[in-house]
Amino acid sequence: MTLKGLQIGKKRARYCIVQGGMSIRISLAPLAAAVANEGGVGTIGGMGISPAELQIHIREAKVRTSGVVGVNLMYVGSLFDQLLDVCIRERVDFVAIGAGFARGPFQKLHAHGIPGLAIISSTKAARIVAQAQGVSGVIVESGQAGGHLGPKDPEVSTWELFPEVLQELSAAGFKGPIIAAGGMLHRADVERALAMGADGVQLGTRFAMSEESSASWEMKKAWVDATGSQVEWWSPTGYASRAIVPHMDTDLPRIDGVTIRCNGCLKICMHRENHNLSHCISRALINSQSGDVKHGLVFAGARVGEINDILPVREIFKTLIS
Ligand SMILES: Cc1cc2nc3c(=O)[nH]c(=O)nc-3n(C[C@H](O)[C@H](O)[C@H](O)COP(=O)(O)O)c2cc1C
Repeated sequence: MTLKGLQIGKKRARYCIVQGGMSIRISLAPLAAAVANEGGVGTIGGMGISPAELQIHIREAKVRTSGVVGVNLMYVGSLFDQLLDVCIRERVDFVAIGAGFARGPFQKLHAHGIPGLAIISSTKAARIVAQAQGVSGVIVESGQAGGHLGPKDPEVSTWELFPEVLQELSAAGFKGPIIAAGGMLHRADVERALAMGADGVQLGTRFAMSEESSASWEMKKAWVDATGSQVEWWSPTGYASRAIVPHMDTDLPRIDGVTIRCNGCLKICMHRENHNLSHCISRALINSQSGDVKHGLVFAGARVGEINDILPVREIFKTLIS
């Protein structure tokens, strides 16, 4: 069976496979463009980089591919408005917004003719986004996904969460594409999600573990060596998150004002308010991305233990589409 395509706004990807946005420089232009060149949907992670750096990566991706490439932004980010403006100015194919919801950004995208995708994890959020102007598509992310998690029960699987949210969106008359995310690795997972009514699937960890991802080789090795991941960290964002095997909390970076200064990356940060609480999330993720895994967090999906190789994106696609 040939895998179906995915329409996002005016653009159509040959295959309904989306590479999830992975911020702090994991999914940049090289990965997003490689995915788009294979017929999937590529996403640049826009959090943790400056508006100028985001602009460079959007432009680089456009040089590398004519396929579908969008940007993922987190609403909790302090630079959210500036980053959104860059996406609009550079005419990206879509913007996927998670970690918080507000109507304004979607209306703004709509006014500029750019599809806005809402990343949600509950039926309550489904009711809200279904009514919001400018939400052109929805990504339903379960507790099996890597990174920050939205579900009330952070252990909820895609197979439990997706049908409930789909039902809510359908009942509210939502018309755009609905994409399932979290814990998918193989063609059989893709087919299972499509059989449940998904228009497409979003994969994160499998693409983070690719040659084209911008993670350090130390971080890639940590993923390959990982036997699994767990929901354990209460990030200073207030969300749960899923990362590989436990790190000692003392190993995670804390703001001391000398070696680590706060750059105010989040609108709300528990660690900024009280330095004794948790850790500096931005520095923890930067450390891993740049090779200091011992003092970093390695976000990963629930099935990271089943992936034992770093492959070129082309090889990953072969396994998913054939
Ligand atoms: C290393 C890593 C970083 C991530 N960063 C983000 C992010 O910045 N924004 C976001 O919305 N989702 C982020 N995610 C979630 C992915 O976009 C994707 O939805 C999720 O990983 C899918 O689950 P899977 O890893 O089991 O395939 C991240 C995931 C990983 C593994």
